Amino acid sequence: METPTIDIKRGLEGVIFTETRLSAIDGEVGKLSYCGYDITDLAAKASYEETAFLLWYQRLPAGSELEMLSDWLRANRRLPKVVWGIMHSLPEQATPMEALRTVASTLSMFDRACVHQEEGGSSLCRAVSLTAKLPTIVASFDRLRRDRPPIEPRADLGHAANFLYMMNGEEPDPVSAQALETYFVLLADHGMNASTFSARVTASTLGDVYSSVVTALGTLKGPLHGGASQRAMEQLLEIGSAKDVDAWFEQQMAGKPRLYGFGHRVYKVEDPRATILRQLARDVAARSGNTQWYDLAARLEERVLAHPYFQERRIYTNVDYYTAPLLYALDIPIDLFIPMFALARISGWTAHMLEQQRHNRLIRPRAYYAGPRDLAWNEMIGREPMVEAQPDAHCVAGRPANCPAALEVPPRF
Ligand code: ACO
Repeated sequence: METPTIDIKRGLEGVIFTETRLSAIDGEVGKLSYCGYDITDLAAKASYEETAFLLWYQRLPAGSELEMLSDWLRANRRLPKVVWGIMHSLPEQATPMEALRTVASTLSMFDRACVHQEEGGSSLCRAVSLTAKLPTIVASFDRLRRDRPPIEPRADLGHAANFLYMMNGEEPDPVSAQALETYFVLLADHGMNASTFSARVTASTLGDVYSSVVTALGTLKGPLHGGASQRAMEQLLEIGSAKDVDAWFEQQMAGKPRLYGFGHRVYKVEDPRATILRQLARDVAARSGNTQWYDLAARLEERVLAHPYFQERRIYTNVDYYTAPLLYALDIPIDLFIPMFALARISGWTAHMLEQQRHNRLIRPRAYYAGPRDLAWNEMIGREPMVEAQPDAHCVAGRPANCPAALEVPPRF
């Protein structure tokens, strides 16, 4: 049978499936804006609460409106009592992202503050509740795993300052709090990135906000998306010092390189968030008196950007690269880097869900079927086994021959 010529977009690159009024990206000039406001202005002037207002209501708030939303968020920071039982019983080996995904999902069963039924109203209510509670989950999980008691949120602190307070038990210095606030603003939304898309797919089935957020959390975790900042820091730690950058870089380039914190599906110039984060990482490092990781990152970046491999492919620094030395300088453990991304992106995810459901159409693309067709049915008795039958076969780690996993799967195409 003749195979029709079909243009398959494996990564949906360039596919426009909806319109949005939330964020606009110009990947050729390196410009990002939320609801029409340039990211540089937002980073310099907006708080995270103001940014969340902008995304949820698609306009800037008046002072009294911002106060109202900030109060609403602050009043929602505490976790329901029953959820603490789950927090305490998470297994020791749980990663922060697994904990966040699990507890965020659990919240849906206990969050009864939002049951009023106005159309859309209860979804926004849940968006506020989750945006307020995710930082409490992450900070408390981190303390519990270090055998420290969780710290109650403080209603007199802003979103970022309260998070640092709940992690460390001390009110953060204003520079650290501001740096984290700016990071949260910068990462609040970003067009149709993978996790936002996945959240919108779930929302398009008229699924609830919790289900959409859990979908997005799962998508964020991978190293090609939100996991890249953790990988970027691991790269820096592996190199160890600026003097070892050259040898490490040459070694990477000798194979097929994949350097985390570089490259982007949309930006073919520097990611504008990276420009701001570079400066921020430099300032925070200089202020702490330890510029080792910033210097190392800057040296590696210099090598990467000067190399023809990256130049020919138009690969530049992305948002995750300078996130790494910035969060490290703020004493955030590296396995919290992905959850930190989630704490920022939750307002964008939920704004997209609200937008999706306002003009909903079930998102349901198609795949080109490339397998065999019209096969004649074989009765079981006539089928030849491809591995030797083992009546007591069960999966034993390290002994794949005893396991159905030994069956060959079709090759990747
Ligand atoms: N290091 C080395 N090579 C790279 C990198 C990189 N970081 N990024 C892209 N390339 C190469 C690819 O191997 C490919 O080379 P080839 O043409 O010789 O096969 C070429 O550049 C084109 O890359 P694609 O994979 O087609 O680009 P795509 O748009 O799919 O990739 C992605 C975007 C996944 C982000 C990629 O750049 C990457 O893996 N970067 C590292 C991970 C990372 O930092 N992710 C965070 C992105 S930002 C965010 O999600 C928050």
